Amino acid sequence: MKLKYIFPGSGLLLLLLLFVHSSFAATPPSVGIATAHPLATETGLKILNAGGNAFDAAVAITASLAVVEPMSSGLGGGGFWLLHRAKDKYETMLDGREKAPLAAHRDMYLDQDGNIIDGLSISGPLAAGIPGIPAAIVHLSKKYGRLPLAQVLAPAIQQAKSGFAVDERYRRMAGFRLKALKQSPDAEKIFLYKGDVPPVGHIIKQPELAATLNALATQGHQGFYSGAVAKKLVEGSKTAGGIWTLKDLEEYNLVEREPVKGNYNGMEITSAPPPSSGGVAMLGILNILEKFDLNKQSTVTQKHLIIEAMRRAYRDRAQFLGDPDFFDVPVKQLIDKSYASELAASIKLDKATPSHTLPGVVNDEEGKDTTHFSIIDSEGNRVAATLTINYPFGSCFVPAGTGVLLNDEMDDFSSKPGTPNAYGLVGGKANAIAPGKRPLSSMSPTFLENDRGIAVLGTPGGSRIITMVLLASLNYFNGGNPTEMVGLKRFHHQYLPDEVQYEEGAFTEAEIKAMSAMGHHLKRMNRKYGNMQAVVLETGKNTIEAASDPRAAGKSYP
Ligand code: GLY
Repeated sequence: MKLKYIFPGSGLLLLLLLFVHSSFAATPPSVGIATAHPLATETGLKILNAGGNAFDAAVAITASLAVVEPMSSGLGGGGFWLLHRAKDKYETMLDGREKAPLAAHRDMYLDQDGNIIDGLSISGPLAAGIPGIPAAIVHLSKKYGRLPLAQVLAPAIQQAKSGFAVDERYRRMAGFRLKALKQSPDAEKIFLYKGDVPPVGHIIKQPELAATLNALATQGHQGFYSGAVAKKLVEGSKTAGGIWTLKDLEEYNLVEREPVKGNYNGMEITSAPPPSSGGVAMLGILNILEKFDLNKQSTVTQKHLIIEAMRRAYRDRAQFLGDPDFFDVPVKQLIDKSYASELAASIKLDKATPSHTLPGVVNDEEGKDTTHFSIIDSEGNRVAATLTINYPFGSCFVPAGTGVLLNDEMDDFSSKPGTPNAYGLVGGKANAIAPGKRPLSSMSPTFLENDRGIAVLGTPGGSRIITMVLLASLNYFNGGNPTEMVGLKRFHHQYLPDEVQYEEGAFTEAEIKAMSAMGHHLKRMNRKYGNMQAVVLETGKNTIEAASDPRAAGKSYP
């Protein structure tokens, strides 16, 4: 979907000059942005036009999405911002993932008999980790942006005051979480209307969130993590049975991490390192696929090989991935090409490998709602950011007077190693709960680079994020444009359950027949999934294109 946007008059001249002088990636012909909400995309463009760079735009979009897409991310959540700074080609990932409160412990969601207490890690204050998005907003602005934080946050503050209109997607998500939203008086007041899902067009105003954003804009990090806002967050959490303390907030630390890098047949991939499983799993899959000449295979064999590679990488993900500050994650080994050769050798070209015949039984699942945006600015700076509060509307809990909807990212830990979670999956030791630990994520903000150009992409979608980004990356490798990348029909295997989940249209009838005969258990999803945002700079053609997933209501520019 395209956003109508007119550059100011002077911008046209600038564009023309840039076009004339552009001959390679460092000076794109224009800017490209794709986000999950039209207001967030407009906000990003406004900040770029005001002289900001991609990092300023990313701060503004992060804050705007916190306001206008509250079911997917927000000040009460966390995320990963993958950055490329054009002037020195410096690349880093801001890890603003939530951290378990200091009073958290391994068995906090188990009853006396050691059974998981339903819902405790999903709804209410006990489900919430200490948020990282506010810390990332300040860090990204101060270290990488060029405009004052107050200027960059102004559009989001205004959006919180004047409100945004409810759409069908909001209604669906609010309906899904209605019961939990009604448990929190502040969440009910803000996100519902007369105790029910608001009608389309209803305006959601968030004056308290505007005040909290304003505290961040004027006081920086301290504006959220200490002082009046922090006190309200802790009091609100405690009153409702939560375990947050002021110390938890004071000690929250954003971490810059070195992205993981690899290549697939000459295409360079830069993606999220642990505590995301995304980059490692994606490189693991691509390394396996590189052992086969994929484009020379029939479509059935291609899809079979992709599924078998997914199966193996997700097994490793479950066993070996967790917070690298707590668990020694063998990243180098997992993305090593010779390790991929070992895994590839166990793949039969005509037969599915039952998951139970692979060693080990551990896995983990994330919630289903998150958001992603992608930016390339006219200097060649890039941001791929995936942000989350986990389930739609996170924990559905708002501490009184803050307007901050808390995440339920604690559910991304494995509450009980070996026991299936709500989605029939099981978790591992590497991802067990510990005080101050970050839960394992699948969020995979990614850059691709090859002779053709540069792609910036990512998507929400829980444990399917990795396979969505993988399929889009293969599509880019094969010449696909952003519209094709985000529109692609998707399929997914995550080792356990041993089934291929797929969107209608991902396989032809003949493929379904052939793959079933090979032993694959195919399960068509009732709903389409994902909300990918992609920007592609074609260096040869000197064009920039962007696209938002047709499955949702995002907007892209140009
Ligand atoms: N909560 C989604 C993820 O972190 O992958």
